Amino acid sequence: MKRIVFKYQDAFTATVTDAQIQALKPAAADAARTLERGDGAGNDFLGWLHLPSSIDEAQIAAIEQSARLLREECEYVITIGIGGSYLGAKAVIEALSDNFAAYKPTSGARILFAGNNIGEDYLHNLMDLVSGHKFGIIVISKSGTTTEPAIAFRLLKAMLEQQEGKQWAARHIVAVTDAARGALRKLATEEGYVTYVIPDNVGGRFSVLTPVGLLPVAVAGFDIRALVAGAVEMEQSGEQLMIDYAAARNALYNSGKKIEILVNFDPRLHFLAEWWKQLYGESEGKDGKGIFPAAVDFTTDLHSMGQWIQDGERTIFETVLSVGDQHHQVVIPSDDADLDGLNYIAGRRVDEVNKMAELGTKLAHVDGGVPNLLITLPTLDEHCLGQLIYFFEKACGMSGYVLGVNPFNQPGVEAYKKNMFALLNKPGYEEQSAAIQAKFK
Ligand code: PA5
Repeated sequence: MKRIVFKYQDAFTATVTDAQIQALKPAAADAARTLERGDGAGNDFLGWLHLPSSIDEAQIAAIEQSARLLREECEYVITIGIGGSYLGAKAVIEALSDNFAAYKPTSGARILFAGNNIGEDYLHNLMDLVSGHKFGIIVISKSGTTTEPAIAFRLLKAMLEQQEGKQWAARHIVAVTDAARGALRKLATEEGYVTYVIPDNVGGRFSVLTPVGLLPVAVAGFDIRALVAGAVEMEQSGEQLMIDYAAARNALYNSGKKIEILVNFDPRLHFLAEWWKQLYGESEGKDGKGIFPAAVDFTTDLHSMGQWIQDGERTIFETVLSVGDQHHQVVIPSDDADLDGLNYIAGRRVDEVNKMAELGTKLAHVDGGVPNLLITLPTLDEHCLGQLIYFFEKACGMSGYVLGVNPFNQPGVEAYKKNMFALLNKPGYEEQSAAIQAKFK
């Protein structure tokens, strides 16, 4: 069985030693025990901990059935959601998809995303694209009240009903939301939509292995059983890897490395990094503490951020996502004229060049004082991604406890919403509206 591997032997610098990382491992192991006992901070949000091994056949089969209907009867399926109700599905679908899937013929519905921004042109362009085509909607919101997805859903629901009639629309809208509470639950019940539940004890950023992620991934045509199986494997036998990662990143943080850059050398991992940024940023960035999670796509960003990483302020470390096998082989051809001077690599695979870029970059950055953590995925498939997702989730819980924060709340994300509601004169925000208007006088 293919297993992901975590290594940190290139993390040691003048300021971070192996001993410092070893010293934090008992704390990370203790954090794992706290998670298991369920008596730490945020313990009402630990439903993700044994989620992979507790997903039953009936739930998988139901998700697959809904996915089949949407996939077969729609040209497009629009997945509406933001933050934890968006990034996991987007990350997995992008990681598994043909890089140019959007431009190639497809045997099932194409997945589109909405409700993850408030771009007016974005929504206009999207509605323009699906106008006159059969489309379905997966609307995902745990609270059922988030503004961005609510706006997108209101627009797209009205459009779908007008285009296909209320009955067809209701059969092709699936809602993923809280079991009982919230505006979306109420609306779904009234309209008779198929619904899936986001468990109360699973926070948004830990929800990719619930229907929040599984349904869109299944609609995209990927094997959610293999994804879950990979996560189960990590849940049941990956503890030491996660302890090592949680300990290493905290040791680095304590030594002044305040920024962790998640690095990939495969463009399909761009959104995996976006998901990871939310997971770690929202979990750890509080109480004036927390590693700042950043991400780069190499080699692309070596031509932009490479300079900063090599030579800028030494407050960073890198965690590299290295992919073992590509699915396809492309060999660099020989050229008689050799005007571009590339004949020295003729006959070699593009991936070999990429791997040398990866190795060369690591050596250069480590020499430049950037500690390196390395996660190797044997290949980019559902099983390896399932492992990686659970690895990051549990290591995040442990790491937050080692840092001394509650990794499962996100009080900071409310601040902008309050201001926005006050500025828009939302009922119930009269006092805040008056206060905020006064600032502009
Ligand atoms: O992680 C989180 O809790 C957030 O990112 C939420 O997922 C995001 O704000 C969307 O919330 P909801 O699913 O309630 O619409």
